[in-house]
Amino acid sequence: MEKFVITGGQRLTGEVSVSGAKNAVVAILPATILAQDICRIENIPNISDVTAMVKILKTMGAGIKYINKTTLEIDTRHVGSFVVEHELTRQLRASYYLIGALIGRFSRARVAMPGGCYLGLRPIDQHIKGFEALGAQVTMEENAMVHVEAQHLMGNSVYLDVVSVGATINVMLAAVKAPGLTVIENAAKEPHIVDLANFLNTMGADVRGAGTDVIKIRGVQNLHGCEYSIIPDQIEAGTYMVAAAATRGDVLVKNVIPKHLESITAKLIEAGATVEEFDEAVRVKMDRRPGHCNIKTMPHPGFPTDMQPQFSTFLCLAEGTSIVSESVWDNRFRYTEQLQRMGANIHVNGKTAVIEGVERLKGAPIRADDLRAGAAMLIAAMSASGISEIEEIQHIERGYENVVDKFRTLGAKIERRNFPDEDEDVQRTAG
Ligand code: EPU
Repeated sequence: MEKFVITGGQRLTGEVSVSGAKNAVVAILPATILAQDICRIENIPNISDVTAMVKILKTMGAGIKYINKTTLEIDTRHVGSFVVEHELTRQLRASYYLIGALIGRFSRARVAMPGGCYLGLRPIDQHIKGFEALGAQVTMEENAMVHVEAQHLMGNSVYLDVVSVGATINVMLAAVKAPGLTVIENAAKEPHIVDLANFLNTMGADVRGAGTDVIKIRGVQNLHGCEYSIIPDQIEAGTYMVAAAATRGDVLVKNVIPKHLESITAKLIEAGATVEEFDEAVRVKMDRRPGHCNIKTMPHPGFPTDMQPQFSTFLCLAEGTSIVSESVWDNRFRYTEQLQRMGANIHVNGKTAVIEGVERLKGAPIRADDLRAGAAMLIAAMSASGISEIEEIQHIERGYENVVDKFRTLGAKIERRNFPDEDEDVQRTAG
């Protein structure tokens, strides 16, 4: 079993460069299916969600090769099947974007239900509502496959009952080539929605309004290949910003779009950090114990739920009481048990956590329950005194490129170590 072993208490200082955005690339890779041509995508992060999506696309007949470490060439001319049964589909949330892309191209799709981090119920009723509005019939099969079929997709109005990133993206993908006008109301506004719209438009689509809550898509007959570069990852950037503040460090986070970080920046400043903005970088400095503050997660441009575990961890070190309200996911506080093992005074009641800040956390054996919980564990371990061992690091590697090297460059004492599994240990002893 691989773990991260971290000796805490080092101030993070120096520079770190942010990779391409996970939640943009996992939508843009399936979107290449719509081109039926060759796309060259730059700034691809080296994370396991990308590896999984590339494997799935290859089994569907896409020709994919790395031109260099961060550029992929994807040829979707020979994607011939609308059925995706690959085992990996069930591990990855974003695999449901294959549904939108496949019905956009073939007017039908049969895809295994997606997986991803467990954050409470993750229904797809709004995706289904959108596909049906465009004229498709959706059947949930007994073997956990989603079957979507349309005689002819047609543009239509779709009002989303909840602001959903996934449903907004899936309806965009399905509508790009559907004749007529599709209007998505109450659409999500996250930076990766805008990135997908820009990518689709670069392929010849007509998508307007992305980044507002009304997106208008006029169907076009054909799309074509293109070159495109993925935006920097807002959440990876935010994670390094908060890590810098939690360790009372001084870090320049490069290759970011500061506008995407505004809510995180505002909260860091409220807690007493200094944040300087440059064109494509932010510098975070903190030289004292943070002050308490409250956060409430909201769809963009509100405070992102994907930064909630990291920021709550930081607030565990604050002077005074902070209140954290999670309004996007039903179950995103599981990680707090791990923080309690490190001496944090954090208590959860439903979708709210009350945090009484403590002077210091203490290193402990802890677990990454999911991707962002894992990022929170890294921050906790680096700001704590003593040694922590983090288990289940595969969750972290779904969304953070080269996390060990990047934190090491900033002065963290972190290494990845291989520990024999307990069963293996027993066998060896027995042998
Ligand atoms: N929802 C519904 N019905 C639907 C879809 C969503 O009720 O059909 C509800 C969800 O239960 C949730 C809320 O709407 O309460 C928002 O869900 P959304 O659809 O926006 O989430 P998602 O598309 O499944 C993406 C990110 C998540 C991120 C959320 C919110 C990807 C691949 N995942 O998930 O990212 O937390 O948006 O911003 O883009 C992560 O990166 O760690 C991660 C979990």
